[in-house]
Amino acid sequence: MTKNYLKEYDAAADADKYPLVQKWMKTEPLPFFKQLRAERPILVTPECTLLALFTDIRDALQMPKIFTVDLYKPKMGVTDTDEGYLMAHDDDALHYREKSIMQGMLNRDDIPRVRKGIQDSAKKILDDANGSIEIVNNYCRMVPAIMVQEYFGLDGIDPQKLLKWSFWNQYNTFHNQPFDLNPKEKFDYIVDEHAKCSVELVDYITVLMVRKLLTVKIKDRLFGTALKVINVLRAVVKKEPIVLKDDIVKRMLRTSFAEQVDFPLTRIGTNAGGLLIGAVETTSQAVAQVMQYFIDRPDLLAQAKAASLKEDTSDIDAMVWEALRFVPISPYMFRQASQDYTLAKGTDRETTIPKGTNVLTLTQSAMFDTYAYENPDEFNPDRNWYHNFNYGFASHDCLGKYVGMAMIPEMVRQLMLRDDLRATSTMDYKDGPFPEEYHVAWS
Ligand code: HEM
Repeated sequence: MTKNYLKEYDAAADADKYPLVQKWMKTEPLPFFKQLRAERPILVTPECTLLALFTDIRDALQMPKIFTVDLYKPKMGVTDTDEGYLMAHDDDALHYREKSIMQGMLNRDDIPRVRKGIQDSAKKILDDANGSIEIVNNYCRMVPAIMVQEYFGLDGIDPQKLLKWSFWNQYNTFHNQPFDLNPKEKFDYIVDEHAKCSVELVDYITVLMVRKLLTVKIKDRLFGTALKVINVLRAVVKKEPIVLKDDIVKRMLRTSFAEQVDFPLTRIGTNAGGLLIGAVETTSQAVAQVMQYFIDRPDLLAQAKAASLKEDTSDIDAMVWEALRFVPISPYMFRQASQDYTLAKGTDRETTIPKGTNVLTLTQSAMFDTYAYENPDEFNPDRNWYHNFNYGFASHDCLGKYVGMAMIPEMVRQLMLRDDLRATSTMDYKDGPFPEEYHVAWS
């Protein structure tokens, strides 16, 4: 018999209601969300309001001035004197400007080259491991850290520092909110660790910018004209042009913006830091959880192995995206209402959400709504990508999504290519929000 979550919820004392919801979201999200969609698609708890239907979630996420990211502001450096990071801005000039500049910098034409880089670093780590590895620290976190150094250009630093900075930043932003119910001591500890990391990160980025700026200015000036001449000659003999070494930080520094664009060096620095923060812990969690999902299901493991052997990666890519619907990095995205707003007007579920309410848009539930997908409980890699929320939705959708869409499946694929792949431990979260330890072996 299916469990009746709402009956238990209604019978609980007020103080116990949201803790129950939180427990179910962590341990049994899919049946809980199914009941919400069927019986109470807008659940008003004493702590926050949950939206469970695809249409309501899509609607809310498309109104960033009403369902805001204000909860990001204290976590992303927004103060009276500092604008902080673009992600903490809703549909304003800064967000519009910087998101579009950064989308241009992360030129999608780079993706095949980026994927090849991921393939090489992933393969090398696995070759060197000689048949067994703890994947979370040595692979799931390390491969994106290498990408951050080589492609984004945050180099000349111990990768362990990059991992630490991404970890505490992500922890404080996404898992230290009022609805995470962390006791005060734990809350303060996470805030402190993040604050220490922010100081280190700013120091590092400052030195990085000076170093790269000098390299770019001096090398471009010294070799720029000479290279142009050489490349004209090479073109005559149909040889590939020689290009100066490029990465995203250098690319940003090489680009000159008119003053009126308002993208000075300080904003380049802030955005360089954002690339790191977004890339590591998200990718690590996604790869670790997908690996566990496949390894725990021998049929899917065999199917994923067969797909990985193909030169065309579209089958393994689709399998990985479908797996992430079942094990996303978060079952929701959170927003805060900036005004009273009545959602789902004219329906049975019409609800007024008062100003200041924290709202959990249950994006995992949206991906199991029959509005989005037929037979949503079935694993089926052949699904419409536009109804997938793993990279967010609307104006805040993920800046790094095309990098992630290449990186995550390629990392899974390189593991799948090993023969007789198996887990030699369970996955350990060590009481935190992220996978911390998972051992695998192969023949
Ligand atoms: C590869 C490097 C990555 C970078 C540089 C990156 C960066 C970003 C940035 C800057 C945003 C905010 C965009 C905005 O506010 O307009 C964002 C949003 C988001 N990213 Fe990423 N990200 C990366 C990888 C990932 C991965 C691997 C995942 C999950 C599998 C992910 C999931 C998300 C989600 C769900 C959002 C939306 C958050 C919200 O709406 O509140 N990202 N990302």
